Amino acid sequence: MSGINAVTTNAPKGGVRYERVTVREDGPVGLSPIYTGICGTDRGMVLGHLDFSYNPDKQDFIVMGHESICRVTSADSKTGFREGDIVVPVVRRPGGCINCRTGRQDNCSDGKKHEAGITGMNGFMRESFTDSPEFLVKVKDPALARVGILTEPLKNVVKVFEVFETVSRRSIYFSEDSTYEGKNAYVIGTGAEGFLFSMMASEYGFNTSILNRHPIDENRLKICDAFGMDFVDSSKGIPDENVDLLIDTSGDPATLLNFIRRMNYNSIAVMFGTNGKAPPADFTGKDIDHIVERNISLVGSVDAAKVHYSRALSYLSRWNSMNAGALSSMITDEKKPSDVSVFTERNPESIKIALDWS
Ligand code: BGC
Ligand code: ZN
Repeated sequence: MSGINAVTTNAPKGGVRYERVTVREDGPVGLSPIYTGICGTDRGMVLGHLDFSYNPDKQDFIVMGHESICRVTSADSKTGFREGDIVVPVVRRPGGCINCRTGRQDNCSDGKKHEAGITGMNGFMRESFTDSPEFLVKVKDPALARVGILTEPLKNVVKVFEVFETVSRRSIYFSEDSTYEGKNAYVIGTGAEGFLFSMMASEYGFNTSILNRHPIDENRLKICDAFGMDFVDSSKGIPDENVDLLIDTSGDPATLLNFIRRMNYNSIAVMFGTNGKAPPADFTGKDIDHIVERNISLVGSVDAAKVHYSRALSYLSRWNSMNAGALSSMITDEKKPSDVSVFTERNPESIKIALDWS
């Protein structure tokens, strides 16, 4: 046990500090973060909005951070890792349910899993920590040492598309030429997760639109261009077309409902973003008629499994070699870990903020 610098909060109350902490370590692989990323979950915790977050046992704080790319600093050969390896640690750690016991703690069925930096387990925003090899995913492409910070948010996207493929099998969903060409995917939200969902929809061959209620900056427009997405400013009206795949990253009921009303026969809506504080919306009997009569599926999806992290890394390698500049321009800010103001101040041009621990 020795003191190290870390970014902490007191969950679920909130607040944020950069301070020296001493926490228990028990894994055989020594790690030190290169970058850690900040997302809406972290901001929600700092604001005290994330009721389900909690401190680890016998601690009155939690080390924050679930998005990271780390360097192995020590490991014995039995672990399968070597000093200098680059890895992404997984967020969720298993409880005892059947899904957890088969490596699918993302589908935990009794809520007893833990999440690094969110629920009952210290996260990755600290100078160093140790972990078990089973929770580390190796980054084999050296070109990903920076954009690899997007692995964690992208793993959620990979899982959502697997869920989408599973649900879409209930009827003929493809176009006549067996592709998704001509099918419309709408992604609500222009944060990092919204962009990653759109890139994947575009990769699958959908006509992909990414939406927000306001215009977006030049950098965001360039990313849309590079990955073949259309931006729609929904405050100016939405195109009069049917939506075949809807992905929501906003968690806003009124916005979601507005698009559900535009959904096509046999379409699929995936709810990913959460916002417990969002105002209620007017879900009516007519909406139920629409959903039932058109066989519309509404699905929720959270987190992802280790296999999805590996696949996320393959997508990042490919996208990075196709569109290196565009992918890395998703990381708009690099900050010092001590600069905790980034958790509360919001620059609308920021997409992914990375804390640089090197
Ligand atoms: C993470 C997930 C996690 C979820 C909890 C997200 O930001 O990517 O891994 O399960 O937060 O709400
Ligand atoms: Zn996150």
